[in-house]
Amino acid sequence: MRERFSESLQQKIEERLRYYEDLGIRLFYRDRGASLNSPGAGPPEVSNLSTFRAAQEIALPKPKIAAPKTAAVPPVERVEPVTLPSGPSLFEAVDKVRDDTLLKIREDIGDCTRCKLHKGRHKIVFGDGSAKAQLVFVGEGPGADEDAQGLPFVGRAGKLLTQMIEAMGLQRKDVYICNVVKCRPPENRAPEPDEVATCSPYLLRQIDVIRPKVIVCLGAVAAKTLLETNRGITQFRGQWLEWRGHKLMATYHPAYLLRNPNAKGEVWKDLQKVMAELGLQPPKKKSS
Ligand code: URA
Repeated sequence: MRERFSESLQQKIEERLRYYEDLGIRLFYRDRGASLNSPGAGPPEVSNLSTFRAAQEIALPKPKIAAPKTAAVPPVERVEPVTLPSGPSLFEAVDKVRDDTLLKIREDIGDCTRCKLHKGRHKIVFGDGSAKAQLVFVGEGPGADEDAQGLPFVGRAGKLLTQMIEAMGLQRKDVYICNVVKCRPPENRAPEPDEVATCSPYLLRQIDVIRPKVIVCLGAVAAKTLLETNRGITQFRGQWLEWRGHKLMATYHPAYLLRNPNAKGEVWKDLQKVMAELGLQPPKKKSS
């Protein structure tokens, strides 16, 4: 049933959605199963909000919480996936490509015109870093700087990500950095479901080739895409999840941290868990 809201209620809902977007929770899905399975689990059906994006109707694999490795890792709650009644997974058709390489994937993408994002892009931002990385960071999509240079995370948010990587005792060349979509969405809007559906199989192939031990999803778009969930990132941020044989951790996007520096501590806690998993020590401070 579609409802029409009064102007003041609509305004309140829009304010609340903006608040969630500021928290990095950018995609709101219409959950086809929500009313059947779990009342209140999904957003209300709204027909007159421009900020409300329609559902990409996909079935969900069950993300499992991996057992904590040491007693130091706090216990995690199980994150129940949102189960939808039917429909293929976004990734179902993505079989492992035999003898795949990053070069082959880049060649397959070519001068891509498969989705509407190609119209405004200058450069395809494929990904950057080590093909043998144990750690892959997945962001949302290129911004203006990335679009101009053809490299991921080179703008302001990228500089913060680089600092975070270095604080972990690594350099950018030691990890692999990529995005859910490889072309810049206009005005830095969130990628739309059809764009994500078109582009994310290449992301999957990249991850399959690299076979990292750990994937860190930067922000809600990356987390929701890989986990195929409409749950808010705050519900599982900082928890270990298992995803296609990799350990996955979702944390806040560096762009969110630029707007909300107080959240840096939370992200640093998440990255420390990643460091423990990878056996990394923070770099020693240079003595003066
Ligand atoms: N934000 C992203 O999500 N990806 C980039 O590459 C840059 C900014």
